Amino acid sequence: MSIYDEIGGDAAVNAAVDIFYKKVLADPLLTPFFDSVDMSGQSRKQKAFFTTIFKGDTAGADTYMRNAHKSLVEDKGLSDAHFAAVAGHLNATLNELDVPAHLTDQIMGAAASLKDAVLNRSPAEKIAVNQ
Ligand code: HEM
Repeated sequence: MSIYDEIGGDAAVNAAVDIFYKKVLADPLLTPFFDSVDMSGQSRKQKAFFTTIFKGDTAGADTYMRNAHKSLVEDKGLSDAHFAAVAGHLNATLNELDVPAHLTDQIMGAAASLKDAVLNRSPAEKIAVNQ
């Protein structure tokens, strides 16, 4: 069974994204990034993206995330602290919705695996940073 089915399908994904963006927009570290973003469109795109990857289709996810956030890295300084904050809000959202731990672990693992793409880093840079 996919994460999508196990979590409870559309209703669960929609509830998670709604709660997630309430938390993100209430975080002063993150609000500057969303100042001029149409949040209904953003929620719709995030629901579609989570639905796709929770169904197990991760093809193209890396490139999509890299392209979607590239200008935020270059122009607005999107970096580790922001990624950690967003991941924290996602984790808190899943806990609030009583998502079982084994699913939360998988979802947080999927988010972590997209970090290099979101921050427009290559794996080599990551190794260099960690040295
Ligand atoms: C694994 C983590 C993340 C995922 C899965 C994710 C997912 C997405 C998706 C699906 C989009 C829509 C792209 C499109 O089709 O236009 C998007 C855009 C966006 N994301 Fe993320 N994101 C992540 C991390 C972050 C972080 C850490 C920030 C920092 C604040 C952020 C801020 C934004 C902003 C501001 C946009 C809108 C860009 C625009 O419309 O110009 N995201 N993200």
